[in-house]
Amino acid sequence: MMKLPHFLSKKATCNSHGQDSSYFLGWQEYEKNPYHETKNPSGIIQMGLAENQLSFDLLESWLEKNPDASSLKRNGESIFRELALFQDYNGLPAFKNAMVDFLAEIRGNKVHFDTRNLVLTAGATSANETLMFCLANPGEAFLLPTPYYPGFDRDLKWRTGVEIVPIHCSSHNGFEITESALKEAYTTAQKRNLKVKGVLITNPSNPLGKTISRAELNRLVTFVEAKEIHLVSDEIYSGTVLESEDFTSVYEVLIERNLQNSSVWGRTHIVYSLSKDLGLPGFRVGAIYSNDEIVVSTATKMSSFGLISSQTQYLLSEMLSDKKFTSQYLTENQKRLKNRHGLLVEGLQNAGIDCLKSNAGLFCWVDMRHLLSSKTFEGEMELWKKIMYQVGLNISPGASCHCSEPGWFRLCFANMSEDTLHLAMDRLKSFVESMNNDKRPVRSSRRRSLTRWVSKLSSSYKTESER
Ligand SMILES: Cc1ncc(COP(=O)(O)O)c(C=O)c1O
Repeated sequence: MMKLPHFLSKKATCNSHGQDSSYFLGWQEYEKNPYHETKNPSGIIQMGLAENQLSFDLLESWLEKNPDASSLKRNGESIFRELALFQDYNGLPAFKNAMVDFLAEIRGNKVHFDTRNLVLTAGATSANETLMFCLANPGEAFLLPTPYYPGFDRDLKWRTGVEIVPIHCSSHNGFEITESALKEAYTTAQKRNLKVKGVLITNPSNPLGKTISRAELNRLVTFVEAKEIHLVSDEIYSGTVLESEDFTSVYEVLIERNLQNSSVWGRTHIVYSLSKDLGLPGFRVGAIYSNDEIVVSTATKMSSFGLISSQTQYLLSEMLSDKKFTSQYLTENQKRLKNRHGLLVEGLQNAGIDCLKSNAGLFCWVDMRHLLSSKTFEGEMELWKKIMYQVGLNISPGASCHCSEPGWFRLCFANMSEDTLHLAMDRLKSFVESMNNDKRPVRSSRRRSLTRWVSKLSSSYKTESER
């Protein structure tokens, strides 16, 4: 194929997509040599993908019992023609009703949602980008607590031209979002002549795997109120918690503070998706919930660029309006997540590795600072490469999440079988032992491939650590 960059737009040739991040490079390396129990037992185990495969059987059994939903029938009659025709960009009313009820159910029915404020999008990726288009101009900024989901460089910045300014959180207090960190980020943006339009959080946090506390949410609300800016809360993991009570939605805090009639109510927006809680990232189902009429109408017009297909909306409207099913699913899924989370934490402990105390998400935020050859991002990258090639695990380095301290990694636990997770932990344990005791010298073939890998990636590493 040809490459003719001079004939193309700046967007097509610029480097701000984030594709060269170790987060995405790790996926590429995994694809070249994926672990398989029998076909490739020494391959790389994918621990860098936040997918939930723990409850597929529950969804499959619902589909079996409700064949009409996937065969595009209603009460046994085909509705194929109805679904195949032009779709109104407002979405199917039945699906929007089911979505707002599901959002409320996940929040223990403490908050209620109105379909008129809901905009459907092709996943949270599209929801986050659409919100940026609505809330900020190119060159204006959003503040994001670090570490943050690596995909945000693409979703928030790439096409919109919006800038991200990090709110540096620290391991000293469990990466809490403090008032001083918020103020510091705001000042940094001002020094860079960037107008701050809002703060964006993920609650529960990706990659920390923990819910944002009420105290932090109150602090954030006070901050955005004072600065007269927006607050976007990406609540994609709201149902992916080990205990439902642990999760507090930002709307609960606003209601508790009687802020429904204040302007901060209109400036607080929620992002959601079924990619994590139902484990359906391939279905591309997301949503924006906003109390601002202009945001809702603009985002609805923009949703034409990324609609959810009618048959997906139909199937999921049937599934989510089955209240008995959703309630059983959420409970059972949480039970399974808790079990998996426990296995990962225990496996890491056996390998002498700690992680941040967590209660949500599909991953843990793991402290490998003691395994670094030097307490630098170079040291972190060196360790990451060893873990990829010598141990055969793809994990996400903290640098790819813009963490300000080297030595932290995100490890996912729900995208594989229990046996694979045990194997991953066994591999990690022997690696740590070999590091400690120098018992297991690196085989020469592996050392050769490690050297090739190190030189191949050295240039992309530079760009990432310098960002
Ligand atoms: C915090 C966060 N937001 C958004 C997304 C994108 O989700 P979707 O598959 O719905 O586009 C992810 C996916 O990992 C995520 O972790």
